[in-house]
Amino acid sequence: TQSTVIAPSILSADFARLGEEVDNVLKAGADWVHFDVMDNHYVPNLTIGPMVCEALRKHGVTAPIDVHLMVEPVDRIVPDFAKAGATTISFHPEASAHVHRTIQLIKSLGCKAGLVLNPGTPLEVLDWVLDDLDMVLLMSVNPGFGGQSFIPSALEKLRRVRERIDRSGRAIRLEIDGGVKADNIGEIAAAGADTFVAGSAIFNAPDYADTIGRMKAAVAA
Ligand code: DX5
Ligand code: ZN
Repeated sequence: TQSTVIAPSILSADFARLGEEVDNVLKAGADWVHFDVMDNHYVPNLTIGPMVCEALRKHGVTAPIDVHLMVEPVDRIVPDFAKAGATTISFHPEASAHVHRTIQLIKSLGCKAGLVLNPGTPLEVLDWVLDDLDMVLLMSVNPGFGGQSFIPSALEKLRRVRERIDRSGRAIRLEIDGGVKADNIGEIAAAGADTFVAGSAIFNAPDYADTIGRMKAAVAA
């Protein structure tokens, strides 16, 4: 089993003070920085790109940067994120014409590769690529916005992906993204997640360390 990772989504951070916000969540106990990239095409919102990732590295961020691409097409932007200092690059199979090729591209550039499943995406997309992945990211909301509610069917989906990962015998992370809070993270962990994205639950709270601490305690319980 993998160590627990809390990955605050900077989508809910104060973008006018982004460097400081990232420093603060990392000081407060965050393990990774979750970096949501939206293109107003694959999803109905527009956020940040490789230049902002590079700026965080130049600012001195050494923690893993977990890039979640909600863009179409995928392949064109992957090398830019690898160059900008991304650690993991995850993408949606619906947005890539050649899922296997995109995974190999990400890994050939020295990054870890993740595949993202929307709430309505069947698990079969994992069938012929699971062994090539470093991470499976299950969406527990439809992508595009922070602050949405956790979709309950994601718990059963987590259990099924956990079984597949265990059967593979590989060290593949299982990340959950959307509506994760201190009061539901315990059951989400019990369903099999080891890597937890949380945006609004952390950045909208007054005390980042307290919130992250309560999340880690609930996962460990
Ligand atoms: C949604 C993004 C999420 C989002 C999570 O498309 O992928 O990472 O920021 O935000 P919360 O934790 O507020 O649901
Ligand atoms: Zn995300």
